[in-house]
Amino acid sequence: MDRIGLVGGNPLHGEIPISGAKNAALPLMIAALLTGDDLVLRNVPDLADVRQLRKLLLNHGVRIEVAPHDPGHIGETIVFSTPSITDTCAPYELVSAMRASFWVIGPLLAREGEARVSLPGGCAIGSRPVDFFLTGLKALGAHIEIDEGYVVARAPRGGLQGADVTFPFPSVGATHTILMAAVLARGTTTISNAAMEPEIVNLAQCLTAMGAKISGAGTRTLVVEGVDTLHGADIQIVPDRIEAGTFAMAGIMTGGDIVLRGARPEHFQAAIDLLRRTGAEIDCEPDLVRVRRSAGRIIAQDIDIGTFPEFPTDLQAQYMALMCRADGTSHIRETIFENRFMHVAELMRFGADIHTDGQVATVHGVRELKGAQVMATDLRASVSLVIAGLAAEGETTINRIYHLDRGFERLEEKLAACGADIRRLK
Ligand code: UD1
Repeated sequence: MDRIGLVGGNPLHGEIPISGAKNAALPLMIAALLTGDDLVLRNVPDLADVRQLRKLLLNHGVRIEVAPHDPGHIGETIVFSTPSITDTCAPYELVSAMRASFWVIGPLLAREGEARVSLPGGCAIGSRPVDFFLTGLKALGAHIEIDEGYVVARAPRGGLQGADVTFPFPSVGATHTILMAAVLARGTTTISNAAMEPEIVNLAQCLTAMGAKISGAGTRTLVVEGVDTLHGADIQIVPDRIEAGTFAMAGIMTGGDIVLRGARPEHFQAAIDLLRRTGAEIDCEPDLVRVRRSAGRIIAQDIDIGTFPEFPTDLQAQYMALMCRADGTSHIRETIFENRFMHVAELMRFGADIHTDGQVATVHGVRELKGAQVMATDLRASVSLVIAGLAAEGETTINRIYHLDRGFERLEEKLAACGADIRRLK
């Protein structure tokens, strides 16, 4: 199994191109199930999760063609077309590997009137139920049963019917799924307490370009007027705000100076504001963010994790790594997932001083971190170990890095180009 070896201590200097967002690429790829025409997606990152979803889509009858490299875009341009859905079942083997696969239930039900989709099951960061998805689909008229670990969903005769859906919590996945179901339903659907992450806006842009009628994307209330059919479109995946925030923290932690090319500051403004309070200097342009800490200490700052536009849970582990080297004590409150502190034990191998009490981690900054042997536990946690290792004295080895390959495109290459001493060990 691959590992990452790195030697800490080099400040990062240089420019990093920000890839297309994994969390936008996945729902936009799933939207290809809604039309028989070509859906062209640009800036698709080359990641294990994207490859995993491609397998599932092929199983449903989606044709997938990677276009020749387009020098104007980072990542791949991929053409998806689904003349007909050949199988409405999403099997356990393909869904259990990645939770977002479950979201196919929305378009399958909308276009074919039926879907049999494996329950995604729990995952390392928490139980992650699907109750909001099922309540939302039922509100649109679907009949739902659970059969041997599968959700079996059937639309009423005449198809899904628009309805009012109110989520108890603004779930990203449930918002994507109900949005994709509602675009082909009869009549009006109002989704209240919807997620408003930039990836939701990207999906709404994509669906609108395909002929859907959606208003309110980027707010807590989405209104969808159902249409009979959707057509093809040509859409760019938004830049990955989590990747940008991660590299920003790596730059600050190592005392470097890096330019995040393509990053959209308004997509991670809460992180930018927080990092400025830690003492970093950050300059923003519409498609570029420069981050540096030329001198001085890192100032400890508390943070409560929240839904967009608040500070994202997907940057919590990386921020904790940064706080390990701060002057003073910080409190980090995780509010989205109940078990997202697995990186704590691994960060302590570097000599960090962290205590957790329920959903709050208290981090006492230390003067120095020391390289260590650590193990990646989930996607975002893994990259926090990379950041900690880059700022630590001496050698670090990170095991189980397949988690990193799920969500960070060419991570070692991008860091090495900025002066990091990092390599993949086969
Ligand atoms: C998405 C992101 C993930 C990010 C998360 C929160 C993708 C591919 N993944 O995950 O990177 O960390 O948003 O920003 O985009 N919940 C329920 N019932 C439901 C659905 C959700 O209780 O039916 C709960 C979850 O257990 C969790 C919270 O709602 O505690 C938020 O989850 P959700 O926003 O749905 O996260 P994902 O869409 O799975």
